[in-house]
Order: sequence, then C-alpha cells, then structure tokens
Amino acid sequence: MCGIVGYVGHSDGRVNAGHNALDVVLEGLRRLEYRGYDSAGIAVVADGTISSRKKSGKLNNLISELEARPLPESLTGIGHTRWATHGGPTDQNAHPHLADGGKLALIHNGIIENFAELKQELLAKGVTFQSETDTEVAAALLGDIYRNQLGGDAAKGGLTRAMQLACQRLEGAFTLLAVHADQPDVVVAARRNSPLVVGLGEGENFLGSDVSGFIDYTRRAVELGQDQIVTITADAVDITDFYGAPAQGKEYEVNWDPASAEKGGFPSFMEKEIHDQPDAVLQTLLGRSDIHGKLTLDELRIDPQLLKTVDKIIVLACGTSAYAGQVAKYAIENWCRIPTEVELSHEFRYRDPIVDENTLIVSISQSGETMDTLMAVRYAKEQGAKTVSICNTNGSTIPRESDAVLYTHAGPEIAVASTKAFLAQITAAYLLGLYLAQLRGNKFQGEIKDILADLGKIPAKIQRILDNEAQIKELGQSMADAKSVLFLGRHVGFPVAMEGALKLKELAYIHAEGFAAGELKHGPIALIEEGQPVFVVVPSPRGRDSLHAKVVSNIQEVRARGAKTIVIAEEGDEAVKAYAEHVFYIPETPTLLAPLLATVPLQIFALALASAKGYDVDQPRNLAKSVTVE
Ligand code: G6P
Repeated sequence: MCGIVGYVGHSDGRVNAGHNALDVVLEGLRRLEYRGYDSAGIAVVADGTISSRKKSGKLNNLISELEARPLPESLTGIGHTRWATHGGPTDQNAHPHLADGGKLALIHNGIIENFAELKQELLAKGVTFQSETDTEVAAALLGDIYRNQLGGDAAKGGLTRAMQLACQRLEGAFTLLAVHADQPDVVVAARRNSPLVVGLGEGENFLGSDVSGFIDYTRRAVELGQDQIVTITADAVDITDFYGAPAQGKEYEVNWDPASAEKGGFPSFMEKEIHDQPDAVLQTLLGRSDIHGKLTLDELRIDPQLLKTVDKIIVLACGTSAYAGQVAKYAIENWCRIPTEVELSHEFRYRDPIVDENTLIVSISQSGETMDTLMAVRYAKEQGAKTVSICNTNGSTIPRESDAVLYTHAGPEIAVASTKAFLAQITAAYLLGLYLAQLRGNKFQGEIKDILADLGKIPAKIQRILDNEAQIKELGQSMADAKSVLFLGRHVGFPVAMEGALKLKELAYIHAEGFAAGELKHGPIALIEEGQPVFVVVPSPRGRDSLHAKVVSNIQEVRARGAKTIVIAEEGDEAVKAYAEHVFYIPETPTLLAPLLATVPLQIFALALASAKGYDVDQPRNLAKSVTVE
C-alpha cells in the first residue's frame, strides 16, 4: 500500500539544517518499500517552483530518472510509493500530481470515493486531467480552492486553509500531502482513515505513512487523529481539524531500532523473518502470566465482568491473519466452549451479521491498518459488540479503535507475505482463549498452566525445525517447475494447509490450493493425476479420535491416483513413511498447538521454490503489505 514521506528543513544552518529533501525523502521511501508498491515519485520546492519526477516500477527506476534529470537541492519535499487502485501502474498515474498551473504537487494514499462527481465539476470549470487517478482530482480540487476561492492569498490561510476546505468535500479514505511553490517552506497534510505520522526533528520535521519513513532522523513521533490536518515547517507542527479548529496529536517515542528492520545476514527479509519465529513466539508469550501460571493480560482493558457475558466470538481478519483466526477457532471453542466464527472482514458487514453486546469481536491484523478489517470492526462496534484487536503494529488504527488490544511482539515484518506475524497471531489468540477459559472457569488453573508450559516449549521446537531446514529447502528448489501443488489438512491442519497454499501462490505464482482432507472425495480429488504434488499435514498419532488414521486414508486415496505425497508428520510417526515420497518431521506437541510448528516447513518450501525461480520473495508482484483500501 502506498508509502508517503514529507520533509521540511531549515535553510539557515542553525541546527540539523542542510539535509537535502531529496535524500531524506528517498531514504524514507526505501524504508517504506515493505508496504508494496508499483511506482514512485517525488516533488521538491526550490527556486520558487515545484520540480517533480515519477516513474512506474521500483525505486531504482525513479533513481535512474533522477540521475538523468536531477532535481535541484531543496529543503522541502514529498515522496510517494504507489500501489495502484484507480488507473494502472504507469508513469502518468504515479504521484505526485500537479495542479494550479504546476505550482502545487499532491500525493495521496487511499481512495477518494466521490472522485467522479468532483471530476465532472472540475471539468465543467475547464480543468484538464493527465491521468486516470482519483488523486489528480483531489490535486485539482485543492488547486482550484487555493487559486479561485482563496485567491492564492496567504492571508486567507494559504495551502492549509485550502486543504481544510478540500477535505470537507472529499469522501473516502485518504492521507494527502501537498506542497506549493508560493509557500516553499511548508508541507500540509490531511488524514482520514489512512495512516499518517509526524516525525519531530530539531530544525526539521517529517511526515510518514509510518515511523519507518523518518526513523533514520528522529524517534519522536506524533500520531495524528482521524480527520486532522497538519502543517509542518522546519520549526513548527500545527494540527487542526477539517474546519480549522485547533487539534492535538499524541506524541510518543519510537522504541524500535532501525537495525531490527534490516535483513540480519539473510538473503531476504522473508528468510530472516522465518528465522525470527522462535523469538516472535517467545516475545508474544513473555510477561503474560504470573509465577503461579495465572494469565495476566493487563492490556486487555475490557472489564472482566463483561467478558464473562460473552456468548459468541467472531474473529475478523484477511489473508494470512484469517488463517490464524481459523486456528484460533479450534482452540477457543475447545478451551472456552464459546461458539466462535471466523469471517473474512470484507464479507462480514455486508451480510447483516447478528452481533450484539454479548458478542466479542476479535480482529487479527499484522499491520493494524487493513481497511477491510478496520471497517468491519467499526461496524461491529456500532452494533454494540466488544472489540479486541490482535495486532503487531503499536499505535496503529485498528487497536486504537478497539476496546482492547493484545499486541503480538513479532517485531517489524517487512516481507510482504506474512510469516512471523502469523505464528505470533496464533500465539496471541491462544493466550486470549486461555484467558477467557481462566476467567469463565472453563479450565482448572493447573490445566491452563500446563498448556502455557507447552506453549513455552514451542520456540525451541521451531528452532529445531529451522536447524533442519536443508531437506525442505532442497525439495523446494527441486520443484521449481511444478505447475500446481495441493495441500491437505484436517482439524487445525486445515488452516495450516490453506496457509501453505497461500504462501506458494504469493511467492512462486503457481497454482496452489489448501483443502480439508475430508472434503477431497467431494470434488478436489478430480484434480489428482499422475505426479501431482500433494502436501499432507498429518496430525499427531497420539492425538484425539481417529484423526490420524483418517488422514492416512486420505493420503492413500491420492496416492492411488498417482499423486506424489509430501508429508509433514510428528517425530516418531513411522507409519506414514510407507505412504509418502518425502516426510518432514516436526517435534511432538499437543494437537491444538501444532500449527505453530507445521506451518514452518511449508513457509520454507514456498520460499525455496520461489527463490529457485528467481523471484523477489520480499515483494511479490501485485501484492501489498498493508492494504488500506476496501
Ligand atoms: C495483505 C498482505 C497479507 C496479509 C493481509 C492482511 O494482503 O499481503 O500478507 O495477510 O494483507 O494484513 P493484516 O495487516 O491485516 O494482517
């Protein structure tokens, strides 16, 4: 999703002056690359004019353009990485967009929902457009207000006032940043539904979609509220609402180290993040129980009495986070006996769901900014539900708007496809389930303590899988020519199978599907032909009912039809060997916790296969890390 950076520095050399806006903005855009994008652009104000460059493709294309046609040195600039929504990823559609005869430049993250109507209005006034974007309409509106309504008069509030008036007309989600040649030392920004943070420097100030945009320069940040306008100069940060009334942001100190966002010696962020997983799970577990094994989720601000009245849980999430939700359902229902549904956020609010004050909404989002999930949470709140957010990004919108939050502590996840955040989400969901069970008396304290002890052993077990990754890596590399791979699982193995398939689709761009193993005979088995690779997530033979035996039968069914079976099984499960081309063993663990282990080989497999194909595993095509449009 689009990344945004803004900068204003001092021109008199007093303090940190001298940063060239171009360098600051480009560096910020680099740090924001993880958000996913398909074009990039930059504008600076210098010598009484706006100069801008923009290019489709990765930042290197923009840098080549800047080498061919350099920008002047400047102390004021804005930059953008675009993830296409309105109009394809072309040079023309890339931001910034210019208005007011080229004197104003604007960048935008989000979607202006009433852009068509505004465009008609502006066309009737004789405005012409160069792109297909909704952003250019916002730029033209801002330019029109600045020039025709305010007469370009700084005494009438200049760009800040124009931004307030423009925002009053815009509908949808937007972060906007604008610069104007008449006000060379100012960047004005607006925020509705999309993220924006101010970075406070000395003699310079910054704007970013998140703190990564300026982390190299300052750790003091101000989080903007909903529907706020901020005007930054080198010395000042002024915040108002859309109507000009003074408003406040929330200042905080950024406590993560920029080095933790680097690759740590691995060839890709994704590989590093897969290897971060023992720590991600450990960090998420830390500090959540007292010495007697009693869970103390202090950040859950909801009154425990209210949690006791919950009669239904709905988990809302998208993508990988939704599969974490599927795992959560098995655990929560088992431990708490509360009916738990899992729903894709974007499907939820359009079907008139049954939600009331006894419903607990658990949203799961790595970024905390996924618009589909945010809107679903808002809808549920309106219906009176209590909302808990499981989130990896401190201070992001979804936890801020929820009644309570349980942060995962996976650290920044840079690779677009989620890995460590997934395991951390599952871990946090287990903690929430156990906490509810403790509160409602569904489990004895001793049982909870035992499960927490089992969870405590998980990081070392993940490490053991990682230590033996060579075998699965080799298999992934050897299967670079595969056209389709199927994944089967039962019970908690089913969401694991779906996540395994999603990783392969995302990274290697090949057809992959995850099925409930029992569903196979009802249709998917028709896909099996000679040589079809099928991964099977086999439950523990020590586990409940006859799950293991059933899955072994499913393996036999696909093998009989020519499938090449690759099995993820528990150490000691010798029986499956007879039915598999390849077996990858994971350490013993209780069935409900097994997804924290069984997922890992599937991540490594997808990474190895995609790398063998020469693909960029950190930034797969067409995907965005944080999808802030519906
Ligand atoms: C995007 C990402 C996925 C992620 C999903 C949900 O589609 O590419 O990796 O799982 O969004 O993101 P969230 O931040 O809400 O977990």
